[in-house]
This record gives sequence, C-alpha cells and structure tokens, in this order.
Amino acid sequence: MRPLTAAATAALAFASSCNAANLVVQATGGNNSSPLMYGLMHEDISNSGDGGIYAELIYNRAFQGSDMYPSNLAGWIPVNGASLSLQRLATPLSWALPYSMNVAATASSGKIGFANTGYWGMDVKMQTYSGSFYVKGVYEGSFTASLQSNLTGDVFGSVDVVSQSVAGEWTQHNFTLVPSKAAPNSNNTFAITFDPTGVKDGSLDFNFISLFPPTYKNRPYGLRPDIMEAFAELNPKFLRLPGGNMLEGNTQTSWWKWNETIGPLKDRPGMANVWGYQITYGLGLVEYMEWCEDLGLEPIVAVWDGLSLDGSFTPQAELEQWVQFALDEIEFLTGDAATTKWGAVRASVGHPEPWIVKYVEIGNEDWLAGAPAAYDAYKQYRLPMFIDAITAKYPDIQVISSSSVFDNITIPEPAAGDYHSYVEPDTFVNAFGMFDQLTAGNKTLIGEYAAVHPNGGIGWNGDLMPFPWWGGAVGEAIFLLGAERNGDRIIGTTYAPSLRNMNRWQWSVTLLQFAADPALTTRSTSWYTLRLFGNHVISKTLPVTSDAEFGPLYHVAGTSSKGTGILKAAVYNSTADVPVSLRFEGSSKGATATLTVLTGPENPYGYNDPFTHVNVVKETTSTVTAGADGSFHFSLPQLSVAVLETDATVKCRKQRRVEVQA
Ligand code: AHR
Repeated sequence: MRPLTAAATAALAFASSCNAANLVVQATGGNNSSPLMYGLMHEDISNSGDGGIYAELIYNRAFQGSDMYPSNLAGWIPVNGASLSLQRLATPLSWALPYSMNVAATASSGKIGFANTGYWGMDVKMQTYSGSFYVKGVYEGSFTASLQSNLTGDVFGSVDVVSQSVAGEWTQHNFTLVPSKAAPNSNNTFAITFDPTGVKDGSLDFNFISLFPPTYKNRPYGLRPDIMEAFAELNPKFLRLPGGNMLEGNTQTSWWKWNETIGPLKDRPGMANVWGYQITYGLGLVEYMEWCEDLGLEPIVAVWDGLSLDGSFTPQAELEQWVQFALDEIEFLTGDAATTKWGAVRASVGHPEPWIVKYVEIGNEDWLAGAPAAYDAYKQYRLPMFIDAITAKYPDIQVISSSSVFDNITIPEPAAGDYHSYVEPDTFVNAFGMFDQLTAGNKTLIGEYAAVHPNGGIGWNGDLMPFPWWGGAVGEAIFLLGAERNGDRIIGTTYAPSLRNMNRWQWSVTLLQFAADPALTTRSTSWYTLRLFGNHVISKTLPVTSDAEFGPLYHVAGTSSKGTGILKAAVYNSTADVPVSLRFEGSSKGATATLTVLTGPENPYGYNDPFTHVNVVKETTSTVTAGADGSFHFSLPQLSVAVLETDATVKCRKQRRVEVQA
C-alpha cells in the first residue's frame, strides 16, 4: 500500500485558514525504497569532463582532432620566438594521436619552447604536480618545465628534466614539479623550454604534454578533488554514465565508443562531442568506474543503441554488431580476467578484479532525435534486441529503456524506463503525484531533471535561467518527494547536467559551477536541497494520514535503515508559514528529533553566483521535542525544504506492499 494520496485523505480534511497540517506517520504499510534514490549523472558538456572534473591542466594536450574539429595548436603559445607547427609525421606517437607539435628555433638566442594556457588558466599552489611529455628528435641537454604567471611572467616553480630523447623515436619524459610559491590567481601557464643549441636537427617534435595537480584519492590521471568533494557531500548512490547526448554522438560514426576510451592514454583518439568541442577520452570508461569506486556509487552504464543525434539510426540488419559491442562492454566491466576475452583486457589495463554492474541503460532519449522513425525503430527492434541479448547473458542486470512509460511506449519486460524532465517549477509541483501511476512492472529511473526556466518561461530559446535558483530548487524538491513516495518503483533520481565550466558552457543550469580556480567552485541552490535529501536516506516509506491535502505542504515519510523516523517536506505557494504537527505512530512524549529547514532569499529567483560567493540558501537546524501526544510541532515557511529525523527508532511493521508480496 502506498502512502495515502491527497484524494484518499480528502475525507479527513477540514478547512484551515492557515494550511496547518496534522500528519500521522503510520507504523504499518508502506514499501521498501530504492537504495539508489539520489545519484549523479555526467557527460562532457560545458567542459565538465576535459577542463572540468578530469584534472588534466593542459588544454589540447595531444592535438586530437576530427572531421568536425580538425587538429590544431589552440592553447599553445611560443616561448622566446620559437616556431610552432602542427605536423602529421610519418612516425606518429600512436595510431590514435597522429598529430604532434614541431618546435624549431628562430633567430633568437637562449632557451626556446612553448607554453600552454590551460583550460582558461591553471590553479598553481605549493603542491606536487605530475607531468609528462613525449619528444622525438635528438637533444642533448635539459628541458625546463615551469609554471608561471601569464600576466607578469613571475615563475612559481620549475624543474629540469634531463633529455633522454633519441633519433627517430618518441621518448616519454616524466617529472614532478612543486612550486615554491602559490599563484595569486589562475591566469597562469605551463611551459617547456630547451636549449636549441643542443638540438641536432634544428627542431624537436612534442606530443601528449600532460600536467596534473593532486587528484581525488591520488589516482594517476584522475579527477579534481574539489569537484569530487562537492559530489561526495551529497551522499550520492549512483552515477549514470557517460551521458546523455554525448553517448549518442553526432553521427552514426561519431559517438562514444567505449573501447577507444580505455587503455594507455596515447591509444585514445578522442571524439568530436556533441557540445561543440573535441574531447580527449582521458575521462574514459575506466575513469568513470574509478569515480564510482571512489564515491561508492552504483554505475548505471548507458550503451550505444544505434541512434545518433542527427536522427539517423542503424537498420535492423546491421544492428547485431552494436548489440555485441554492448555485450563486450559489459564483459569488459564484469568478466572474469582469466576466462573472458574482455575481462582479460580489463586486467591488462590495471583492473584484474571485475566490477559489479547491476544497471545498463539502452541508449539515451530515444524518443527525441529522429522521431518518429527512430523511435518507432527503437520500439520495434532496437530496444528488444538489446533487452533480449543483455538479459540472456546477464540475467541479473536490470536493463533500462531510455524512455519511460510517460513517453508513449510499452516497455518490454524486464526492462525499466528512464524519465527526463527539464521544466519550470510549477510543472514539477504539478507532477508530485505522477509517479503514483507507476505499477510494479514499470520501474523508472529519473535519469535527468532540473528546473530550467521560470514559471511561464518560454523554453530553450527564451527564459532559461542563468543558474539554478531557489524557487526552482523547491519545485524540484517537490517532484523528488513525489518520486520518493514511490521509492519501490523509482530506481533513482539525478539532477542534470552536473557541471558547468564558467568559461565555455552550453547549458547554464547545472548542479555545480566551476572554473580553473577551485575557489570559484559553486554549490547551486539545488545542490543544497539534494544534500539535505541525500543525507537522510529513507529505506522504507510509510503511509501518512493528514487532515490537509497536498499543497502548499508536500511530504514523504519513512524510516532509515537504522529505524529512525524521517519526514521530508517542502512548502510551495503558501501565503503564510505552515504549522505542522507530526506524529510517528507509537511515539511518545519527550521523543526528540532534528529538524533541518532550508529557506531561500526574499527574491525566489535568487541564485548562488560563482562570482559573488554569496550563498542564498539558509539552513537552520533545531532539536524538536514531542509533546504530550507524541507529536512534533514546528512550522515551515513559504518556499522551504525540510527534513525531520527522529533521534531514536520509531515503530514500523509489515513493510511490503501487498502486490509486491504476492
Ligand atoms: O543534460 C543535458 C542533456 O539533456 C543530455 O545530454 C540529454 O540527455 C538531455 O537532452
């Protein structure tokens, strides 16, 4: 039995001029809730991968290009008059990295070289930077690797790297660099210089020039600590990867090919992503899985299913190869290293232990690009072919369709669905009850959602908000309460997109904003509501009887795995504070609970601006004590989001839905 709906409780309702709500959380009924209720979604949009969570500091480190974004020398500037040219040598560094940079002396004297401007700057601190570069050509002498101001030339740190280069071969040089002082801002460059008099043939070729600051959990070529920490604070439970539109790619030949994202970095060609720039594939499948490991996340791995964003899709007769490609990907992730082909490949790239994958999503938003023909093909053969093949080989994996029952599809068993929603706050509030319609047979992931424009906004080309804003965050919170009330049918929820580099972005409304300087990393208003909800995990929901209909107060209640009682609530469209009386059935006088209330600025359009550092979200925490009848009394203001969690366990019996038991 699900918690009572507004309609079911209407009989109990009595008119109240101040919207007071008397809530009683029942000790019986309810249902188990998904352990994955709040998660993360990521794809390389708005330089959120390269130049974002992937901590590489060097922009265009390996001159990767494509038909759409040809290789170039963007980000590289000559030092001391050096001549830099892009070359496609007969002996490239690797098949994946065919282009390199030739550096030749001109008339000037002294050391020459090149500098890199980074992804709109570089953060320089007194910490250890790990660097490497490949050189081809004979050079006797030392290279100097340095970090300096792009404004003043002030050098913060440098290191000499003795040349090991030899004729005709690419030689990798590794170094560490510890600046002796921190830079006052992020407008800095990284340079490599050398003495041209030691160069035999007048020039040297360089490729894969890399520099990493310390990374999260010190993973080599890993992720940015400040961004990972901001994610970790949300207590997320899953990561949906690798997108999003990026998975789909632009065309039938340009999409996220997992097998090209693994192994040595010099063997990853990168791709023209769908957001207007080339990506390196440095943040590849293994790095995504390590991200999951480091934050304890369940991976939800999306596989390419034949649809690209140009609307074209693979004909049925040719699709089998991509079904196999997806099966190979799953085998790469989960297969035994000794007995499976792709498990052995995983071991060869440093991960002998298989990962556990419980969720595989088939494509992304197949209802959108190329509809109706592409969607018809999804319904008719693409989705069924993937479901059949994956469930036959991996019966324990929950396959997920990239569309949900709300997208005009009957999803074949045993697949679940995925629902995406980018709307205005009112729409989210009105959707509070929509997941009550889900049956046990149509579990759904909410794989992307965000309030993106204000009420009455006219959509993508009109009133998109510049950042997540408080009124939007409250609308989203109510949508999430509606999802969590149905936690046995909702696999999980994730805000999207998660990240935006403030220097080049395609999507303004994201969970976190950042730039090269970690001090600019900004937690949005939505981040605060998600941190509150994500850190109070309901493992079982319980029915709530109320004398008030839903609105302006919305809520869900349940118990944590420890047995404490939890109420999550939000207030929207109220003219006054909402007095709440809350009793967990069986609780008695003197019981205590912690109440956390988030409120926003007076102006509901207020947002957390990375440039002002003003946090518009106010959090108050108080201890509330149950009165004579065991009820907690408190009031919640207009546009507030709150969680109450009891300090002691509460009674609850017979948790499972009748239909689940049957
Ligand atoms: O989150 C940004 C984009 O929105 C995703 O890539 C896509 O799935 C959706 O349309």
